[in-house]
Amino acid sequence: MTTFDVELVDIVKEFESRGSTVRAVDRVSVEIADGEFFALLGPSGCGKTTTLRLIAGFEQPTSGRVLIRGRAMEGIPAYHRPVNTVFQDYALFPHLTVEQNIMFGLQMEGVDKKAARKRANEALEQVRLPGVGARKPHQLSGGQQQRVALARALVKQPAVLLLDEPLGALDLKLRKNMQFELKALQRDVGITFIYVTHDQEEAITMADRIAVMNEGLMLQVGTPKEIYEHPETHFVADFIGETNFIPGMLLERSGDGYGRVKLANGPVIRAQLSHALGSAARAVTVAIRPERIGIAAASASLDSDEDGLTVLEAVLAGSQYIGTDTRYRLALGEGVELVARLQNVSNRDSAAYEVGQPVKVYWGESSATVLDQ
Ligand SMILES: Nc1ncnc2c1ncn2[C@@H]1O[C@H](COP(=O)(O)OP(=O)(O)OP(=O)(O)O)[C@@H](O)[C@H]1O
Ligand SMILES: [Mg+2]
Repeated sequence: MTTFDVELVDIVKEFESRGSTVRAVDRVSVEIADGEFFALLGPSGCGKTTTLRLIAGFEQPTSGRVLIRGRAMEGIPAYHRPVNTVFQDYALFPHLTVEQNIMFGLQMEGVDKKAARKRANEALEQVRLPGVGARKPHQLSGGQQQRVALARALVKQPAVLLLDEPLGALDLKLRKNMQFELKALQRDVGITFIYVTHDQEEAITMADRIAVMNEGLMLQVGTPKEIYEHPETHFVADFIGETNFIPGMLLERSGDGYGRVKLANGPVIRAQLSHALGSAARAVTVAIRPERIGIAAASASLDSDEDGLTVLEAVLAGSQYIGTDTRYRLALGEGVELVARLQNVSNRDSAAYEVGQPVKVYWGESSATVLDQ
């Protein structure tokens, strides 16, 4: 039997507030492997922090079980769990020096002062902040304080590090640098990271796997690529990146995981069926990423064909130059519009098509996914 580092089994967490019940976490089951960088991603209030607090032991589940390294955590208080938490607001002790902050937890565990000091300074080196041990937190920048918070958590060598929006208070540039460093650090130390963020780009660039949450539910768990390329629900497709949605009717399911859909504007296309598509679904949505759509002149000899190309007629309704790319708005008729994003490879590209011009739009059928409405 495989033992996972962290296992959540059918977890429900409800809070009573002013006579009503809030279900913050709704039947969540997930298995997180040893050494994995696992991101919990979702909008504000979706239950990310609550999930983290349940793992840490700051909250008890209403029902369901938390296991860490195969061991059930019921009745085990937070300070006896092999996890450590890094919060967004650092939570450093202001009156202690950096070194004392990092040593604190070790000394609480009975590690003698000399050994604790040595480990504290090793941890400071690990987060690339040597030589600041004697300073007080307020004498450091925000990014440096966050590194100290990280060192303080790492020094205790937890099996799992829980991070709740740890870069949330930093400015964009510093945040990008820290994303890089955190990822490298995680690879070096090999500790399992469970990382909460509402920033999809952060999750995509850092995580081995992402769980997308909404309203307490874990909607989809997968690698960044799986989540981006094969979103299983409308919510996930919409939350991660930009997506076109075209309403349609599912006419037929073929055995190869594809189906034929009559789009609201008329044409019938082939597209990949989402794994999560309801078995009785008729009214559906077809999702296509803007960068997967190509544009050609109306006279181009392109046809929907056996090779899995979908070609539709459209009118260019608008274009927007955004530096690296140009975004084109394409009217397909009956009020259906698509956005296509084309890279500006040469400086002629951004002026290639004019508003009002009839064009052909095309994509590979594997780029279009049929989702529930
Ligand atoms: N102690 C509590 N008492 C009552 N309701 C709570 C409590 N803690 C959380 N909630 C509610 O549970 C839901 C999930 O909250 P949670 O803090 O887990 O969200 P989150 O995903 O971390 O959001 P954010 O991105 O804003 O930090 C929210 O509706 C919140 O109001
Ligand atoms: Mg939160």
